[in-house]
Amino acid sequence: MSNERGVFVTLEGGEGAGKSTQIAALARLATNAGVEVVTCREPGGTPLGERLRAALFATAEGETAPAPAAELLVFTAARAQLVAEVIRPALDRGALVICDRFADSTVAYQHHGRGLDASMVDAANRAATQGLVPDLTLLLDLSPEQGFQRGERGLDYLEREDVEFHRRVRRGFLELAAAEPERWLVLDATRPEMQITHAAWERVRVLLAR
Ligand code: TMP
Repeated sequence: MSNERGVFVTLEGGEGAGKSTQIAALARLATNAGVEVVTCREPGGTPLGERLRAALFATAEGETAPAPAAELLVFTAARAQLVAEVIRPALDRGALVICDRFADSTVAYQHHGRGLDASMVDAANRAATQGLVPDLTLLLDLSPEQGFQRGERGLDYLEREDVEFHRRVRRGFLELAAAEPERWLVLDATRPEMQITHAAWERVRVLLAR
């Protein structure tokens, strides 16, 4: 399914890669260029999605973690609501939608990280996205060690996974990017913020001019 009018950009990467900073910068640039911008985050971005996010991340240290299949279905349930309630209507209006994580996160975390079957993850993603694919996906690539050094918050149950889990997630993202180079732009997240914004904006601008 093509986006017809709007432009759909997603940001992906591990913990502490600077996605929020880049989303704010890109949204500012696009707004200044006179474009309607809608930003959102996953999981969340709708009242139902935020309640699902809170339920998932209420998992306390020492408590049994969500079963991998339960985790998959909560992330994709939140996504289904976000696509229907926010992303698809915004794209139909011709807006630029910038989303903090999307279906690629589920492949990287639940398939590469958790080891869930790829076909099961793809089926859940298809149900959630209804075939919607980003026009551009920016990968802010960073080693898990560097990502956690940057973190300032307390760790949630996913961030408490061992470093090997986070290395598999990183390799998963890089594999996805290599398989679809026309959709992905891989950015070294250790570069200065302004340089990253500049490289990302160059690509977004081309899409907006289509
Ligand atoms: P964030 O707000 O820091 O990006 O946190 C979201 C967390 O959820 C992060 O650890 C990645 C994880 N996640 C998945 O495991 N699968 C998914 O499909 C999504 C959207 C996020």
